[in-house]
Formats: sequence, structure tokens, C-alpha cells
Amino acid sequence: MSLEKARTTAEAIAQYSLETPEQLEQFRLQYLSKKGVITDLFGAMKDLPAEDRKQFGQVVNELKEQAVAKFKQAQEALEAAQTASGATAPLDLSLPVLPHSLGAQHPITLTKNRIIEIFERIGFNVADGPEIEDDWHNFTALNFPPNHPAREMQDTFFVERNGTNDVLLRTHTSNVQIRMMKEQQPPIRSIMPGRVYRNEAISARAHCLFHQVEGLYVAENVSFADLKQTLYHFVREMFGQETAVRFRPSYFPFTEPSAEVDISCHLCQGKGCNVCKYTGWLEILGCGMVDPNVLEACGIDPVRYTGFAFGMGIERIAMLKYRIKDLRLFTENDARFLRQFSGV
Ligand code: PHE
Repeated sequence: MSLEKARTTAEAIAQYSLETPEQLEQFRLQYLSKKGVITDLFGAMKDLPAEDRKQFGQVVNELKEQAVAKFKQAQEALEAAQTASGATAPLDLSLPVLPHSLGAQHPITLTKNRIIEIFERIGFNVADGPEIEDDWHNFTALNFPPNHPAREMQDTFFVERNGTNDVLLRTHTSNVQIRMMKEQQPPIRSIMPGRVYRNEAISARAHCLFHQVEGLYVAENVSFADLKQTLYHFVREMFGQETAVRFRPSYFPFTEPSAEVDISCHLCQGKGCNVCKYTGWLEILGCGMVDPNVLEACGIDPVRYTGFAFGMGIERIAMLKYRIKDLRLFTENDARFLRQFSGV
């Protein structure tokens, strides 16, 4: 029965006339499409007794090859004829244009540019430095004791170890601070955005690659009050005028005194939610007065000059500002995530 149908189909295919594009399309639908005769015949195979299946399968396969060959040949012939006669599909100017998808700036770029804009308007310029750094600029000059845990392998990616002058991927942008102070005398008033690297397991809250912006102001009579006013200004510009700010005493080898800065949680207005872990506060950056040892290491007179420094993670600021819950989204290049920032 099925074998009989296969034979009549073979004849029908052989006789089918394929001279116009319409006939070609009709043929394709009738024989080669998913709902076509050949698919049906393949489907009928399962109802056959097992011993007949192999032979029938061969017959249908040949049939399919026959149909495909005939289709291709006719298609090529038609195309050749069309090219020869110079005919192409008429241009329909009334058709709507194909939509262009516009690119968008990455949320890290948006956040970085916003931070730069805020500080530029109060007189900070932007400085840059190397991502591959030596131990001296990344640690020693910043007053890290020789056995400080941050130097250990668990945090730092070492590129090369050659005696005392280890080459590493910078763990913070503070190396630019050192390079600036080595190269120029105060007044220095700069921010330093850039990529930093830490040997950490990748999770929703940590990554081995992230971005920081560090700020440095060194001049005569720079005080902690200047630091506070500068950061108040930044926080209010970034998160809104009503944002509360608090300084918590902290420790960094390169600043003394040191503080960490929290802002009031703008998701719950300080009432307590799971983002601020029911404290009402969100930590956003570290800061302090530049340690005199650091100034001295860079050839700046610590009696005449004082300075403040601060450093923040751009991812952290972006996550708070745009309510992003997982750090990994920044590096996954998922267009559905990135597209959301096109209108920001
Ligand atoms: N460098 C510090 C860090 O990466 C941040 C910081 C910068 C703190 C400047 C104080 C002053 O954690």
C-alpha cells in the first residue's frame, strides 16, 4: 500500500512541470515541506512490519533525493533565466524600513561617566595608569607592610615573580595615585577610573575583574572637612539630595585616619530591607587622609602638604543606582540586560 503510494509519487514528481516560481513553490509545499507527501511517507514507515521497513525507507529516501534534485535544478534554471533577462523583484518603496537596533552604553560606562562628570565640575581632572603593575606601585609605596595579607596569592594575580620586583595585575586603582604623586608636585586634584583584578571566585557579589574610581586631592591645608564635603556633594549628586551620609572609622594602610562611607538605603528610605540587610545603610566607598608615609615615598613633603583619597567600585555604585542584583550580569553580554540602559 505504502510502496504503491511511493511509486505513484515518484511518477508524479517526474512529470511535475517546474517552469515558474509559483510552480516551484507549489512543488516545495506539496513534496518537500514538513507537511508534504514525503514527510507523510516517512511517517507511514512506523506502521509497516519490521521486515519491510528497510526497503521502504530506501525507496522513500530515493524519492526525496529525486524531489530535491528536481527542485534545485529547476530553481537554478529559473534564477539563471531571471539574471539573463535582467529582471529582479520590483522595488517597493512603500514597504516599511527594516528596524535598526541602536546600540546602548554599558551601565558601567554610564556610571563611570556620571561619576567623572560630578567630580570634573568641582575641579578634578581624570588620570590613567597601567593595569599591569609592579609590587612597589600597587603595595609598597602605599604603605602595605611586607607581610600584609592583600599581597598573598589569594587576592593578587601575579604575572611574573622576579625577586623583589613582582609584576602583577593591579588590585586597585591606587597605583595611579602613586604615579601621579611621583610625577608632579601638589596641588594634585584627580580622579582615576579603571579596571582592577582580584583573585576571587566569581559570584553574584564578587568578580575577578571589576572597575574602580579613585580620587586624590593633595595640596596645602587639605583637611578631613574637605573630604567630607566633597563626598557629601558626590553622594547627593549621584543618589539624590535627600540621601543621608555617614562616615564609619575604618582602616587602610595608605590613609590615616580612614573611613568607610555609607549612604541611607534609597530602596527603603532607611527603614530596612533585604538590600541593606535591615540596617538602613549601604556601604559605597573607602576614604581617608593620605598617610604621610605615602606622601614621603612619592617625594612629597608631608609637613607642608596634606591630602585625602577615596576609592569606590563602579559596579557597586551601578548596582545600587540601577537596582541590579547580580554582578555577573555586567560581563555576560546579554542583550536583554544591556538594552534596558539605552534610554537612561
Ligand atoms: N584602594 C582601596 C580599595 O581598593 C579603596 C580606597 C582608596 C580607600 C583610597 C581609601 C582611599 O579597597
